[in-house]
Amino acid sequence: MLAAPDRKLDAYWMPFTANRRFKSRPVLFDRAEGMYYLQPDGHRALDATAGLWCVNAGHGRSEIADAISSQARRLDYISSFQVGHPSAFEFAERLAALAPGALNHVFLTNSGSEAVDTALKIALAYHRARGEGQRVRLIGRERGYHGMGFGGLSVGGHGTQRRAFGNLLSAVDHLPHTYDAKHQAFSRGEPQWGAHLAEELNRLVQLHDASTIAAVIVEPVAGSGGVLPPPLGYLKRLREICTQHGILLIFDEVITAFGRLGHGFAAERFGVQPDLITCAKGLTNGAVPMGAVLVDAKVHDAFMQGPQHATEFLHGYTYSGHPLACAAGLATLDIYERDGLFERSLGLEQYWAERAHALSDRPHVQDIRSIGLLAAIELKSRPEQASLRAYETHLQCLERGVLVRCAGEALVLSPPLIIERAQIDEIFDVLSEALGRVA
Ligand SMILES: Cc1ncc(COP(=O)(O)O)c(C=O)c1O
Repeated sequence: MLAAPDRKLDAYWMPFTANRRFKSRPVLFDRAEGMYYLQPDGHRALDATAGLWCVNAGHGRSEIADAISSQARRLDYISSFQVGHPSAFEFAERLAALAPGALNHVFLTNSGSEAVDTALKIALAYHRARGEGQRVRLIGRERGYHGMGFGGLSVGGHGTQRRAFGNLLSAVDHLPHTYDAKHQAFSRGEPQWGAHLAEELNRLVQLHDASTIAAVIVEPVAGSGGVLPPPLGYLKRLREICTQHGILLIFDEVITAFGRLGHGFAAERFGVQPDLITCAKGLTNGAVPMGAVLVDAKVHDAFMQGPQHATEFLHGYTYSGHPLACAAGLATLDIYERDGLFERSLGLEQYWAERAHALSDRPHVQDIRSIGLLAAIELKSRPEQASLRAYETHLQCLERGVLVRCAGEALVLSPPLIIERAQIDEIFDVLSEALGRVA
């Protein structure tokens, strides 16, 4: 039922995949509609992952496909270096209007990783522009994920990923992660315990001196690290410390933006205003690769000095503001707005959390975390077989027509925001059964 069609699989070196394992038991989908991925034989899988946290408006949206197609016919490509096209400007205006506070300038990239590296460079160049070029240190957080560029990987906090490459950026330090099972297990939304961990930033300020620190970057909810909502009050305290010491605060919202937490941006949900936001994924509903950095006016304006003919920020990509990505992005924002998908996500959150947490007494479950339309079901590790139990549960779910993602020992869920209650039931019923079947 799940076998791949007979085709050669050797040449494609798959990203972030156990290639030999996958190719010995491949599963290929060649179509997607609404909440489902489909195989050539018609077998379908309910997508509990929104692709990879990106397809917030559901699959196969004809409005997006039409916008891409008509843009490709009208203007396939134009550089954004020294020339331009209307959709890039329109899209940036729309994003700025959606963003909280004075984040009213937008730098367009092609992925979340590029958005993160761009944001880090903006932070460094901002301080140089203000005559504080000694601020070169970047602070990330353990268990944080910021993509696979050298900047993002350097501030990222996954030991296994960092160790694989050895040589990363220097002048980087990390806050401790905010997860503590003893105090937080099975909490819904923001855990009560852990706000004091923000004081660790004060420790780093003491250690390095604020005058050497350019920026702090955190995901408001750590996503790839296993869905770790921030402790109540933690982000506010980070903001206060950054403000006190002239350090820029970057929220990496590649996962949390565009309705995942019931708002345009997690910054709004938590009532904390960062200086920069990085986003991608739901920006175009995953249909065309794109990322963006939303930049506060005071940061942007610091660059706008010197003679008019001078390039203010020596950075960009061939495909920055690509016409097809802008067309997809504009159509995506239209859908979010017209269908009220952010509000829809907020309205489903309680039911989603109830169904997720009802798995607490199922076999192997050692923690469940949920916030917005996100959840992680963390399993006890099987001795000598790290992460295999979660992988086998993922396969059991797939056999039963539900695609969940496994990340280490956790099963991670982030469905499209168009999900119906009956489909939420299906996801958790299938997961419950699958957990009973794995050893
Ligand atoms: C928070 C965060 N930042 C950055 C990235 C990198 O995005 P991309 O894979 O588009 O480069 C991801 C990807 O999952 C992410 O979750």
